Amino acid sequence: MQQTYFMIKPEIVAAGDQKVGAILAIVGAAGFRITGLQMKQLDRPLIEDFYGEHKERPFFQDLCDYIAGGPVVAIRLERENAVAALRELIGATNPAEASTGTIRDLFGASLQNNAVHASANPEDSARELGLIFG
Ligand code: CMP
Repeated sequence: MQQTYFMIKPEIVAAGDQKVGAILAIVGAAGFRITGLQMKQLDRPLIEDFYGEHKERPFFQDLCDYIAGGPVVAIRLERENAVAALRELIGATNPAEASTGTIRDLFGASLQNNAVHASANPEDSARELGLIFG
């Protein structure tokens, strides 16, 4: 069993419709078990730390503003091969390039507003789960 970090981003939470539930249903149907879940407003220093690998990228400030713009749903997931399996399930970073039927294909609006985040590798998973869940 492996753990990974999954995050439903502010624009999906703010939509106030059935999208959060629909995304959780997709993840559940793919065999993931939810072992932690919190809806929370992340503060700016935490967001800057969380996305620290991107701090030299031109989109960093916009990314931090966007994630600070409202609560996220932060989720710890468990499954065999969870990190790679979740990355496959969510699709490419840019929804326009995400495979048909992936979460970002179905729910992503733009390269920035791409609906969800999932840890890229086991090291990031441990770091991100530590930052968010302690
Ligand atoms: P995420 O997988 O959470 O990782 C970094 C985030 O930065 C990404 O999803 C997008 O929300 C955002 N982003 C904005 N512009 C870019 C870009 N050019 N390349 C990668 N990520 C970007």
